[in-house]
Amino acid sequence: MAEFTLPKNSKVNGKGKAYKAPEGATHVKTFKIYRWSPDDSENPRMDSYELDLDSCGPMVLDALIKIKNEVDPTLTFRRSCREGICGSCSMNIDGSNTLACTKPIDEVKGAVAITPLPHMEVVKDLVPDFKHFYAQYASIKPWLQTVSTTPSGKERIQSPEDREKLDGLYECILCACCSTGCPSYWWNSDKFLGPAILLQAYRWLADSRDEMTGERLDELEDPFRLYRCHTIMNCANVCPKGLNPAKAIGEIKKMMVERQL
Ligand code: SF4
Ligand code: SF4
Ligand code: FES
Repeated sequence: MAEFTLPKNSKVNGKGKAYKAPEGATHVKTFKIYRWSPDDSENPRMDSYELDLDSCGPMVLDALIKIKNEVDPTLTFRRSCREGICGSCSMNIDGSNTLACTKPIDEVKGAVAITPLPHMEVVKDLVPDFKHFYAQYASIKPWLQTVSTTPSGKERIQSPEDREKLDGLYECILCACCSTGCPSYWWNSDKFLGPAILLQAYRWLADSRDEMTGERLDELEDPFRLYRCHTIMNCANVCPKGLNPAKAIGEIKKMMVERQL
């Protein structure tokens, strides 16, 4: 059996800092948050913050913002839209990848454990490094590609039926909750594109206006880029937008078979 040894500086050190709730707080909830900084040689640690929920918004992101504003300004995390649209605040909350801005605090029983998305390099605290993920996204050429011309000034028309084929695909916000929850991606992310990027690849394969279907399929025809998906389905279970990347991957595999017929 293979054995893996984690680098020494990746192991979480048990002794985190603890911040107590303000005096007189009656509705106290504890947040245990992963902390790591590249600016010192310390190991990661879990800091513990008690908040009074009577003066906090309902979502986990509200708690993180309250901690940063009122308790510990060094806490680092990404966020932007606060309404599940930008994909910035993806992280692991209570053992599952999700968006902090749409995750209600009261869905978590007991202390709320928050760590970065798994199996990604950490830039600082809850901020993972998306460079590789975005490079994989760029590799599938995520834009409309055409070879034919239209009469000048004319747009490419799409029927309502063809437009509907993009439902369940265009809503992806590239938060990476699915890819970083996929065991195949954990072990082969250097070569396997993972569920998020494959769903995006299918979004262009399914677009009736795109004229590069053959070339796009050629690019995916590879034992790793596409075929490392073993239909474990964790991607569909965790997607905070309710999408089903495994189904999109299945559609690509079907297109691969159909073009041989
Ligand atoms: S269905 Fe495929 S892509 Fe989704 S989690 Fe499983 S192996 Fe990964
Ligand atoms: S498919 Fe869902 S989980 Fe995956 S990147 Fe898109 S929105 Fe996020
Ligand atoms: S802050 Fe934009 S998705 Fe959460």
